[in-house]
Amino acid sequence: MNRPRRILVTSALPYANGPIHIGHLVEYIQTDIWTRFQRQRGHECYYVCADDAHGTAIMLRAKNEGISSEQLIERVMNEHQEDFATFGIHFDHYYSTHSPENRKFSEGIYLALKDRGHIGKRRIEQAYDAKEEMFLPDRFIKGECPKCGTVDQYGDNCEACGATYSPTDLKNPVSTISGTTPITRSTTQIYFKVIDFEQPLRDWMATAGLQPQARNKLSEWLDGGLRDWDISRDAPYFGFAIPGEEDKFFYVWLDAPIGYMASFDHYCQSKDLHFDDFWSPDTTTELYHFIGKDILNFHGLFWPAMLHGAGYRMPTSLCVHGFLTVNGQKMSKSRGTFIMANTFSKHLSPQYLRYYFAAKLNHHIEDLDLNFADFKQRVNSDLVGKVVNIASRCAGFINKRFDGRLATQLQEPQRYQSFVATADEIAACYEKRDFNRAMRKIMALADQANQYVDARKPWEAAKLPDHDADLHETCTMGLNFFLALMTWLTPVVPELSEKTTKLFNIDSLTTTPSWDRCQYPLLGQQIKPFKHFIKRIETHQIDAIIEDSTQSLNKNTMSPSQTSTTIRTSPAPATDREYIGIDDFSKVDLRVAKIVNACTVEGADKLLQLTLDIGTETRQVFAGIKSAYEVESLVGRMTVMVANLAPRTMRFGVSEGMLLAAGPGGSEIFLLSPDDGAKPGMRVK
Ligand code: MSP
Ligand code: ZN
Repeated sequence: MNRPRRILVTSALPYANGPIHIGHLVEYIQTDIWTRFQRQRGHECYYVCADDAHGTAIMLRAKNEGISSEQLIERVMNEHQEDFATFGIHFDHYYSTHSPENRKFSEGIYLALKDRGHIGKRRIEQAYDAKEEMFLPDRFIKGECPKCGTVDQYGDNCEACGATYSPTDLKNPVSTISGTTPITRSTTQIYFKVIDFEQPLRDWMATAGLQPQARNKLSEWLDGGLRDWDISRDAPYFGFAIPGEEDKFFYVWLDAPIGYMASFDHYCQSKDLHFDDFWSPDTTTELYHFIGKDILNFHGLFWPAMLHGAGYRMPTSLCVHGFLTVNGQKMSKSRGTFIMANTFSKHLSPQYLRYYFAAKLNHHIEDLDLNFADFKQRVNSDLVGKVVNIASRCAGFINKRFDGRLATQLQEPQRYQSFVATADEIAACYEKRDFNRAMRKIMALADQANQYVDARKPWEAAKLPDHDADLHETCTMGLNFFLALMTWLTPVVPELSEKTTKLFNIDSLTTTPSWDRCQYPLLGQQIKPFKHFIKRIETHQIDAIIEDSTQSLNKNTMSPSQTSTTIRTSPAPATDREYIGIDDFSKVDLRVAKIVNACTVEGADKLLQLTLDIGTETRQVFAGIKSAYEVESLVGRMTVMVANLAPRTMRFGVSEGMLLAAGPGGSEIFLLSPDDGAKPGMRVK
């Protein structure tokens, strides 16, 4: 084996405002496979990550839930770590960007850049929510597309026609936070002069061994001219205050990548490791960032420029992957394919998903598809039918007939040696992140191993007199093939690998360095009884995942827009009542909603405009309850809404649902209230 390398690896930091889903898992599983592989090869490899805890979205979400940002990020970080553990993703350290180390590095890098003249300041005009008293990021402004007129479009681009524009171009813009019309206000912006680093970035790109697609994209941006990067946000903001400024905070994307350093620094403090060995400009250690294609600009431009400008090393390379689609389409809540990590693991072993992703991943920036029919077929035929099958066919005989002891010699040593000679080729595929090729090679060898056993028919030898030695050696050969295959599959299915080491009574294959152990067959070894390793995937398990994902959509719905308010204050006359069935009734999605904001509507006598929190999103609803309620008395109160009513455009805006109330009208309109303890988003039955 080559000289041990010292490698630091990161995955992008997941936002602390939502759960881990199977799209994220593409990245964390890919990185985890690669880092496990490096360790198995005997290299010194560290894998760090953290929650990306800052920003407006997190601050608002916490506010909607009525908790502090700190409480929210702590809860979400626990959930994230649980999901990662369930999926076998092993971080050496998992941290939060809201940490003292990250503050220290963020301030340090900023001040170093400032000292060297790479920071500027200017006055700019920005959208401002006068009611909430805050500047509005593009994502929090909605309005009509200036090009095609579609309503309810975000401040940066139109989902209907694809036009891109700036929020000031939107027609009839509204703040999604308060529902009011944003005004423009001037503020001081602090920016980073990325342009100063054009040459170092070009030099870096030439040597970083980037994927061609990534290199092309970065060249395109560099050739098009770098623009100053806005790194400040005004209060209120959940983040780090910019030193030397008043009420200015670092934009979340400034301190997020610095979170890689902070997480590693924290890890170094508890180990005999030196931070500078990995971050000083003249280091010989390697640094890789695994990221999705959507965040290439941050990692390929701003981040290396910041590092270089502040006197640190630049990344060795970036490992960029594409996006996950499910059954050929974008993950979709209504199709039940927006699947959370914990929904998947409730029904199926994470090892299946790890194997399937490995079987699909290569080093290109291509999107990859999780096709459930293919997934089931692939896992059942490869993992269960080919690999584990070898062990289940051979281990029984060893236990029943030979007291659980392997033969002391191989049946065909030559054949075994040529089998394991493939180890280097497989390693080369892992190294290049061509996991799909590695899986193909391993499965071709599994086929060979099965053919070997088939040809020697141990089940027949078992019935014949005087065939004991034969039977013993065939099964020993088979089990050694199996052990070699599992050694090479260890980075992908660590849990099955652990079961394998238990079966064989040997040390873990997941530790350093175990890659080459299959060069030496295991002979004369006492093994354990073969206990079942893994079951086949059944269709009903996949159906359950999709069904659960469709339900959890209803629970935490995020679908775009919904409708208006009318309130029925008296029952329909009994005479012309038409009955509906339970099926019709169950279509009505009733949810506990928290009224987080209420205001009068100019030009409307009866209406109030309400902002309702139903768990993971807020809805704007116009309700004719002004005659019965004071605006102030409504804020903070829980009520019940119809959450799946089609959106309706009214004169005053789009109404996205309906409140439920009873009473004759006037001052006697009674909003339905859920019992104590109800939380926004709960289903009302
Ligand atoms: N917080 C930023 C990253 C900061 S890194 C200094 C962020 N977070 S994220 O939660 O939106 O995404 C985390 C990673 O998951 C990103 O690399 C992103 O590309 C990846 N993915 C998110 N959804 C994905 C798919 N559907 N498919 C594949 N990867 C996906 O971006
Ligand atoms: Zn449009």
